[in-house]
Amino acid sequence: MELRIEGLSVALAGEEVLTKIDLDIRSGEFVSLLGASGCGKSTLLKSIAGLLEVSAGDIRMNGASVLGVPPEKRGAVIVFQDLRLFPHMNVEENIAFPMELKGIPKKVRRDRVEELLRAVQLPGFQRRRIREMSGGQQQRVALARALAADPEILLLDEPFSGLDPHLRSEMGRLVRSIHEEMHLTTVMVTHDRAEAMRFSDRIALMESGRILQYGTPDELWTAPVSRKVADRMGTTIYFPGTVEAGVFRCRDFCVKVKESGPDGDGPAENGPAELMLHPSELRAEAPESGGESGGTRFYRVRAVLPEGETVGIRLSPEESSRQDLASPADFEIRMIRQEWEKTGLWPGDRCVLRPRSFAGVLFRW
Ligand SMILES: Nc1ncnc2c1ncn2[C@@H]1O[C@H](COP(=O)(O)OP(=O)(O)OP(=O)(O)O)[C@@H](O)[C@H]1O
Ligand SMILES: [Mg+2]
Repeated sequence: MELRIEGLSVALAGEEVLTKIDLDIRSGEFVSLLGASGCGKSTLLKSIAGLLEVSAGDIRMNGASVLGVPPEKRGAVIVFQDLRLFPHMNVEENIAFPMELKGIPKKVRRDRVEELLRAVQLPGFQRRRIREMSGGQQQRVALARALAADPEILLLDEPFSGLDPHLRSEMGRLVRSIHEEMHLTTVMVTHDRAEAMRFSDRIALMESGRILQYGTPDELWTAPVSRKVADRMGTTIYFPGTVEAGVFRCRDFCVKVKESGPDGDGPAENGPAELMLHPSELRAEAPESGGESGGTRFYRVRAVLPEGETVGIRLSPEESSRQDLASPADFEIRMIRQEWEKTGLWPGDRCVLRPRSFAGVLFRW
């Protein structure tokens, strides 16, 4: 089912919580709502489900407005942050509940519960009491119960919160595979960036009741519309400088660039600009390594922080150039371990910065 949200505003207790939200979600798409606590993610989900009154705008499913349609007739089902399982019922009774409401015969219910328990990898758990299950298992029961309503839109409110990282990514894969098998339109709330990027077709990045950017994980990463979006999506380092003939020049280095950011994807225009780079888009090298960085600034390695496959390298400009406020002070870059080994750099060593060609995003003033 296709879902379109147009100019949606929602007020709670007299306060505007969502402001003019526009969002189009294609049939079968997996969309994440990503944002800090309190930005309105759950409110948006509840509005779609029909559990809140909207103050302006429209919600359309397959082209038709559903504002007057009660929650149970919308074809959307929501898995809440706190799951809301029925503690006095066993697993089978919980999952069968939505089917019971629909008057589906007992035999059909039983077969469907069995099938759903297999789908969420809890085969044979029919008789188990809810309080005798782990948090992760309860989350899977809640998911199965939602699917039992045979929804066209699955709304998930932080379905994996409180799980350890391993179980979290396992649940993520499970939800994604169920999404694919059942061709469900899925909207998932999360404040975990990596989770959103890994599982979503598109991400709506939210802040204070608004959408900052809506796009594919790749678009948000490589073409953020603002510094704010770039900073929310990852660690960022900014270098002020100038573009001339497709080359960005700053005190730290020279590097080939293209206009990859919000201003399009083409040759970089001449003029002052700021180059935003992620830690993995920069390399440190010993000054005598042969390759010219093209800059005049030297750095000191402050710390080498092994992370396994990658190594964090904390750098700060040499004392002589630290007065220059326009360039970044201390920051950390990330290199593949083998690449770092080749540089031979250790704390206290002097180095230059070498960004990857055509990496990063140019921001203009
Ligand atoms: N019933 C309510 N009455 C008044 N204000 C509310 C109500 N529910 C939520 N709010 C407020 O609306 C804002 C958005 O809340 P919402 O629950 O949508 O945030 P969220 O993005 O889901 O946050 P979290 O990640 O913590 O779950 C918050 O400022 C919250 O305090
Ligand atoms: Mg919430």
